[in-house]
Amino acid sequence: MVSKRLQNVPASGTVKIANLVSQMKADGVDIVSFSMGEPDFATPENIVESCVESVRSGFTHYTPSMGITPLRKAIAAEAVSKGIPCKASNVLVTPTKQAIFMIALAYLDPGDEVLLPDPAWVSYEAVVRLAGAEPVYINTKFDDGFVVDPADVEAAITPRTKMLIMNSPSNPTGCVQPESVLREISKICADRGVRVMSDEIYEHIIYGGKHFPMASFEGAFDNTFTVSGLSKTYAMTGWRIGWVIAPEEDIRAINKLQTHSITCCTSFVQTAAVEAMNGPQDSRCRMVAEFKRRRDLALDLINDIPGLECCKPDGAFYLFPKYEKDIKSTDLAEHLLQKGHVAVTPGRAFGPAGEGFFRISYATSESQIIEGFSRIKKSLSQL
Ligand SMILES: Cc1ncc(COP(=O)(O)O)c(C=O)c1O
Repeated sequence: MVSKRLQNVPASGTVKIANLVSQMKADGVDIVSFSMGEPDFATPENIVESCVESVRSGFTHYTPSMGITPLRKAIAAEAVSKGIPCKASNVLVTPTKQAIFMIALAYLDPGDEVLLPDPAWVSYEAVVRLAGAEPVYINTKFDDGFVVDPADVEAAITPRTKMLIMNSPSNPTGCVQPESVLREISKICADRGVRVMSDEIYEHIIYGGKHFPMASFEGAFDNTFTVSGLSKTYAMTGWRIGWVIAPEEDIRAINKLQTHSITCCTSFVQTAAVEAMNGPQDSRCRMVAEFKRRRDLALDLINDIPGLECCKPDGAFYLFPKYEKDIKSTDLAEHLLQKGHVAVTPGRAFGPAGEGFFRISYATSESQIIEGFSRIKKSLSQL
């Protein structure tokens, strides 16, 4: 029997589709996949080389649990350049998902409430529940471009509210929350004693607009955990490296969990991370430019499909189209997969407000995007 803690975690809304995809692929079916939340590019060569050199030089043992100093310094320097008043001692190096997990374990108790935008990335709810706390969704609307209304945040706060999780640019909507909204939410939380966890993992995948780190707002640093990482920015999902930036006493608390769980991040991956952050940034810029081209292409293709409507997102690599047909998003995703051989993620997986939507990841080639949307168009017309 698994623990009560784990029993409280809902099965992922994407499992059924993921299982079907594997089954169909194993049967030799050609599937266009729009379900992967990771760049299809190779990790830039300078980063790979630096890792290989590090391994060859024998840098293959434990590192300090908070991370190697050059990396903590590089992360702090980048944060300072974005207006976050931080030092290397405010940085703990850990995979981004692990950062979110450790913050939840370190700061949430049974009975606490955690505010989350709806829709939101699937793992927040799971992590909150694992920590024994309760997720409380803040509804956002397609017509508002999924921008969070600070008044809704204020209204949702109760004496049990311990934390608010923000994610801009957002997975699954791609929405970049306006500065004024983030600033207001940050102030509300600070005034009401609610800690903020700001997941900024898509901070560099942004088109046109600007990213505003929540910890950069006046007086916000002491109340904010900033989590981010290299997975999406440098096509490094398999390297498992990211960080949390927070006040020193919080870093010390989170480090307790780090030392008793993963000990430290992989040594030579940390060397490569220093190269990623301090080395040439041209491949990162090329990837972002390519994502922007793909977003525009995918939006054009969506607009050509009757019964679909989509906001134009300013960041991340997701589109979250709304569909007209009266069918549950899990059933729609199953239909698209079985009839059209195209994999999308049902909107409901991201929270109640995701019903009536599906998520497309356009981190795939132009030819796959064209083929995938042609399949979606055809199979939607068969419903
Ligand atoms: C919003 C968001 N936060 C965090 C993560 C986790 O990142 P990582 O795989 O680098 O731990 C993801 C990955 O999909 C994500 O979409």
